[in-house]
Amino acid sequence: MEASPLESLKRQAAASALEYVESGMVLGLGTGSTVAHFLDLLGERLAIGKLKDVVGISTSTRTTREARQAGIDLIEIGDRSQIDLTVDGADEVSPDLDLIKGMGGALLREKMVAQSSDRVLIIVDEGKAVDRLGTLSPLPLEIVNWGVLGHIHFIEGRGGEASIRTMSSGEAFLSDNGNLMLDCRFSGGIEEPTRLEVELQARAGVVESGLFLGIADLAIFGSRTGTREVNRES
Ligand code: A5P
Repeated sequence: MEASPLESLKRQAAASALEYVESGMVLGLGTGSTVAHFLDLLGERLAIGKLKDVVGISTSTRTTREARQAGIDLIEIGDRSQIDLTVDGADEVSPDLDLIKGMGGALLREKMVAQSSDRVLIIVDEGKAVDRLGTLSPLPLEIVNWGVLGHIHFIEGRGGEASIRTMSSGEAFLSDNGNLMLDCRFSGGIEEPTRLEVELQARAGVVESGLFLGIADLAIFGSRTGTREVNRES
């Protein structure tokens, strides 16, 4: 079956990311449909011996399943002192490479792995590029299963609206860690992401936020006119 135009853009970005992978690397493996293309392509390259001795650290049960299917060896976070490179997707990418992540529900492990990595490479289709975070995607928060209303009121006090993520069955979505997800919408986007992140990190009961500020080193955008790479300006 022919891939949809969107899937082709994701695969294009994933293929470009592969050029940054070297034999012997410890790789952080993000989560999502774009990363699924990367895992598939990485598996192919390992199978033909073009890459060797690569091990991955998975950020979700989904990625663990997909990586195993692709024949990628996995280790646990902490098994090696260093993660050379993490490849992950995102829900939004700002011009200076700040991100919203977590619509796949894996943001906590994704942030833990990214923070332990020498380099973080983000692969997205061009539709994820925004001028201001929170314009297209809600901001996901992973929260403990108690005191939820307090967080909803907190977000309302910051000019947003928050709702508990549910599945198609109507049941609450739970992360791999057994926590709820709160999706927070801000009309016109998030005015001060850094300030909001500081406030969220200070709130007991918020396990982690989907704001990934100053974490990505490089973003690869799949676009109809070819791949575009943007490096963080240091
Ligand atoms: C997973 O929790 C997210 O952070 C994903 O990385 C993000 O949702 C991107 O997923 P897609 O590649 O499926 O758009």
